Amino acid sequence: MLTVKDLHASVEGKEILKGINLQVNPGEVHAIMGPNGSGKSTLASVIAGNEDYEVSSGEITLNGEELSETDAEERAHKGIFLSFQYPIEIPGVTVTNFIKTAINANRKAQGLEDMPAKDMLKNIREKAALLEIDSKFLSRSLNEGFSGGEKKRNEIFQMAMLEPKLAILDETDSGLDIDALKIVAHGVNKLKSKDNAVVVITHYQRLLDYIVPDFVHVLYNGKIVKSGTKELAHELEAKGYDWIKQLVD
Ligand SMILES: Nc1ncnc2c1ncn2[C@@H]1O[C@H](COP(=O)(O)OP(=O)(O)OP(=O)(O)O)[C@@H](O)[C@H]1O
Ligand SMILES: [Mg+2]
Repeated sequence: MLTVKDLHASVEGKEILKGINLQVNPGEVHAIMGPNGSGKSTLASVIAGNEDYEVSSGEITLNGEELSETDAEERAHKGIFLSFQYPIEIPGVTVTNFIKTAINANRKAQGLEDMPAKDMLKNIREKAALLEIDSKFLSRSLNEGFSGGEKKRNEIFQMAMLEPKLAILDETDSGLDIDALKIVAHGVNKLKSKDNAVVVITHYQRLLDYIVPDFVHVLYNGKIVKSGTKELAHELEAKGYDWIKQLVD
C-alpha cells in the first residue's frame, strides 16, 4: 500500500528526514516511536503532502502510484488520512458539517454524487455510537473549546467517517484518559480491515496494548534505526532511548 524509499526531507534548509525506508501493506498496523524531535510528525506530514516540507530525494508511493506531484488534498482523496498532533479550531463550522463537506469532497473527486442525506445521517449515528460520541458534541464548532481528549476523539470520528486506506495517527493517545484511550483504540480496531492500514505514532507502549501493531519502528535523528514486532515497544519502554543511542553511535 505505502512504500517510502530513501526519503530525505527538510524544512527551512534543515534536513529532518535522512533516508527513511518504510513498507506498509494492506491489513497491517505499524507503530512509529522515537524521541522528541526525531522526525515522526515530519514523516507524517511529508506522507500527507504538507508543502512546508521540501522533499530533496527519495519517493513515496501509494498503491504503486508515485506521489511527488500530488498535493495534500489529492492525497486525502486517494485515501490518506492524517490526524494531527495539534488539531486546528474552525469556529462556526460544526463537527457534523465539517465531516459532511469532507466526505462529499472526497466523493466528488471520485466522480460520485453527494452522499444522500439519509445515508449520511445513518453513517454519522453509527460512527458516533462506535466512539461513544454524544449527539450534542456533533453540533459544536470544530475543536473550539474542545478538551484535549475531545479533539482526539473527534479526529478518530473523522477517520471513522472517511474510511481512509491509510490512516496516520499522530499521538492520538496524548491527553486521553484511560477510558477515552480504550474507546479510541476500540474504534481504530473496529475499522481495521484487510484492505486498509494504520500507522500510529506514539511515545507510549500503553497505546499498543490496545492497538496491537504488526511492526514497530524506532525513528531516531531522521532515520528508522530499528524495526521489530510489538516486543520492541516493550524493550524500548524498559531500556529507554539511551539504548537506541548506543546502537546508533
Ligand atoms: N515547520 C517547521 N519549522 C521548523 N522546524 C521544524 C518544522 N517542523 C519540524 N521542525 C523541526 O524538525 C525536527 C523534527 O520535528 P518533528 O515534529 O517531526 O518531531 P517529532 O518526532 O514528531 O517530535 P515529538 O515527539 O516532540 O512530537 C524538530 O527539530 C523540529 O523543530
Ligand atoms: Mg510529533
